[in-house]
This record gives sequence, C-alpha cells and structure tokens, in this order.
Amino acid sequence: MVPKRNQTLGEFIIENQNSFQYSSGELSKLINAIRLAAKVVNHEVNKAGLVDIIGLAGDTNIQGENQQKLDVFANEKFIQTLTNREIVCGIASEEEDSFVSINSHDENHQNKYIVLIDPLDGSSNIDVNVSVGTIFSVYRRVTPVGTPVTLEDFLQPGHKQVAAGYVVYGTSTMLVYTTGDGVNGFTLNPALGTFYLSHPNMQFPEEGTIYSVNEGNYVHFHPGVKDYIKYCQMEEENRPYTSRYIGSLVSDFHRNMIKGGIYMYPKSSVTQSGKLRLLYECNPMAFLAEQANGLAIGGKNRILDIEPTELHQRVPFFCGSRKMVEKLQEFLAKYQ
Ligand code: AHG
Ligand code: MN
Ligand code: MN
Repeated sequence: MVPKRNQTLGEFIIENQNSFQYSSGELSKLINAIRLAAKVVNHEVNKAGLVDIIGLAGDTNIQGENQQKLDVFANEKFIQTLTNREIVCGIASEEEDSFVSINSHDENHQNKYIVLIDPLDGSSNIDVNVSVGTIFSVYRRVTPVGTPVTLEDFLQPGHKQVAAGYVVYGTSTMLVYTTGDGVNGFTLNPALGTFYLSHPNMQFPEEGTIYSVNEGNYVHFHPGVKDYIKYCQMEEENRPYTSRYIGSLVSDFHRNMIKGGIYMYPKSSVTQSGKLRLLYECNPMAFLAEQANGLAIGGKNRILDIEPTELHQRVPFFCGSRKMVEKLQEFLAKYQ
C-alpha cells in the first residue's frame, strides 16, 4: 500500500486496517485513541510556559526520579483515554509502579492488546521550552483473553511488538509510528486539530554524520565507546562528525532518522545498566529503527532480542544509521 501524502491520520488508519493480519479493527481503534491523547497532551505542553503547570509535582516515581507536573498529566491522559475506551486489556507506564489490568465491561469485546508507555520523554526539557515526546509500544497478550493480564504479558521481547511509535512535541507536533510495515510520520495542523501524513515511509540514511551522546559522562564510558567517540572526532574522510544532543530521546532519534546519525546511551562505571528503559524507550525505538532501515543494539546484541526480566529494566542503547552502528560494533568487539 503506497502512502498518500497529505492524507489524514484518520484516513490512513482506515485504509490500512485490512493490511493487519487477523484484523478486527482493534489495533486501529488503539492508534486512534493514542492520536486523541496525543492531541490533549500537545495542547497542555504548548501552554506549559503560560500556566502554573511547569515545575515539580512534589513527588518521585518508582525509579526515584522527580516527576514533573506534565509527566503526571500525560500519564493520566494516556491511561484514561485507553482505559475509558476499553480497547486494551493492560497498560504499563514508566510513571507507574506496576502495570494496570483493564477489565472490559462488554463481554463480547475482550481485548487482546497491551500497551507500554513513556508518557513524557525528556521531561527535564519542559521548563526550558525544548522538545519533549511520548513513546508507546503495543503487544498482543500471551495469557488467555478474558482473564486478568499478568506480568508475563508485559515481559515480551521487542521483536513481538505489533506496533510502536512516538509523538514529538516540537516546533511542530508529529506522530510517527509503525505497525511492522515501514514507518510513517504525521504532522499536526494545530488550527484544525488534524494529523496529516507529511513523512511517508521514513528511512534512516545508511550513513550519517551526527553522533548524539551525553559526553559529560565520557570518563565513565566503556573503552570501546570512548574509542568510537574519538573516531567520530577524527579529521578523516567525512569526519569529524557533528555532535548533537538534546537530552530527549524522542527528539534526538527523530533528528537522526531524518538527517542520519547515531544515538548512544551506554552503561558506565556509575550506571551499570545504562539509563534508558528497555520496555518503554528502547524496544519501541528499536522497532521503529529497524523498520526504517536502521539498527539498534544494547552492546553485542540486538535490542529486540533481549528477554526482559523486569518492568522497569534499564539497558545500554545504541541506535541509528546502519553503517554507524556497525562501525560502533567493531569498536565494542575489540574489548570483548
Ligand atoms: P524521561 O524524561 O522519560 O525520564 O527520559 C529521559 C531520557 C531520554 O529521553 C534522554 O535521552 C535521556 O534520558 C537523557 O539523559 P541524560 O540527562 O543523562 O543525558
Ligand atoms: Mn523517557
Ligand atoms: Mn518519561
């Protein structure tokens, strides 16, 4: 199916519904609900500087991080929208201690999908008017339909994802997602409240010239990562590369996918598992990357092959243009 530029997201969802295997319209409804929640959160993010919504909510999440008010708001909106519409059987969020099981009140409509979300990614950027995002990941449950979901439904390897995507609340707001058939990006026309297909069939350029890493942590990195960073900075061929790091994974990934680049959040001597969460951040981004001709690894191995052991698990994450990730792998292999 060839995506038509300027098609609305609503039209695109309807036209593509039949391309899903065993389609019952459930996944389409789910993407529609995410579209709606994204618009509500977008509206709130856009007025963040105007009202008393920025700043800390005075609470910490399960991982001991400060929660921003917009984190709380986005978390509530996404969970509410998906719960009220009874289109998923379970939700896990970066901001919640445990997963939520949703019982459908309609006996004929027993849902089979579970969703994992990072409701607001890059939240330290809100107070300074820099782009933030939302990341989502969808799986088919593994336990029987009609029974309460269990942890097992959420701890699936990333290659089992049926859909994943992100919203970037940037200079314009975009929803970018995949259902395993390429990646398409939709830009919100804020005057109409409608997303239009602006970036059909998005692809990472094979090779790029941007590297994104929090270089302040350099001294703590693995020697393979240090060597690769030095390689990026060397004056040779198309190098030195450009260094760009926003600190919102969604925005850094989005830029790299359009321009060609690599994103790195390695483990270090202080954060042994890295910082990014496998289920809410790395898996959905890795699925998008592979669908867009890029690569995502956690060290030696493919991110999508990791068997999760816990809900809030963190892993090292390297993702981007194919040739750049392969080059990094060569450097990592030297020390293995
Ligand atoms: P979140 O706001 O959901 O906690 O995620 C922040 C993540 C990611 O978006 C970003 O790339 C990274 O943390 C930034 O971490 P550092 O500040 O350590 O570089
Ligand atoms: Mn995040
Ligand atoms: Mn977050």
